[in-house]
Amino acid sequence: MDKPINVCVLVGSLRKASFNGMLANALIWLAPSSLKFDVVEVGQLPFYNEDLETAAPPAPWTAFRQRVKAADAVLFVTPEYNRSVPAVLKNALDVGSRPYGSSVWDRKPGAVVSGSPGAIGAFGANHHLRQSLVFLNVPTMQQPEAYLGHADKLFDEHGKLVSDGTRKFLQEFMQAFANWVETSRAQGQGI
Ligand SMILES: Cc1cc2nc3c(=O)[nH]c(=O)nc-3n(C[C@H](O)[C@H](O)[C@H](O)COP(=O)(O)O)c2cc1C
Repeated sequence: MDKPINVCVLVGSLRKASFNGMLANALIWLAPSSLKFDVVEVGQLPFYNEDLETAAPPAPWTAFRQRVKAADAVLFVTPEYNRSVPAVLKNALDVGSRPYGSSVWDRKPGAVVSGSPGAIGAFGANHHLRQSLVFLNVPTMQQPEAYLGHADKLFDEHGKLVSDGTRKFLQEFMQAFANWVETSRAQGQGI
C-alpha cells in the first residue's frame, strides 16, 4: 500500500456551529482512504508580533508550527469576512511563515474550499487566500475550484449533507486533491 498522505486541515471560523466546520467534516468523511487528517486549531494562536519571535516564542506558535510542518499537505476551509480571509486564518498563515527562512508552508501542496450562506460562496476570501499561498510557495490545486454558496442550506440538524449533488462534488474534489498531492510528491515538490 502507498504511504498515507497526512493532511492538516485549517478552518477559518471559530464558531461552534460553523458551516465551514461542517464542510471540513464532510470533506474528511468523503475523502479517499489514502488521506489522513489532522484538524489544527487556529483560534488559540496569539496575534503575530515580531517582538515575540525570540528563542522562546509563544508555546501555541511552536505547537502549531510543528503540527503543520509534520503534514504532507494542507487543506484550507474558510468563510469570508468582508470579502477577505478571516483574521484568525490570516494570523495562522503569518505565524506559520516565520521565523524568516523556516516557513512551514514552503512547498506543501494545498487546496482551498470556501463556504458562505451568500450566493457567491466566499469567492473573495478564497482568492485572497490564494494570493498569500502564491507567496508562501504552497502549490495550490487550481481545479476543481470550490465555492460553496448557500452553505446554511447544505446540512441537516446533525451536520449531514442534504444533497447528493453536493456530496458527489465534494467527493470528487477530495479525489482530485489526493491526486494533486501525489503528483506534487512524484515531482519532488511536496515535503
Ligand atoms: C465580520 C463578518 C464579516 C462577514 N463578511 C461576509 C462577506 O464578506 N461575505 C459573505 O459571504 N459573508 C460574510 N459574512 C457572513 C458569513 O458568511 C457567515 O457569518 C458565515 O456563517 C460564517 O461562516 P461559518 O458559518 O463557517 O462561521 C460575514 C460575517 C462576519 C461575522
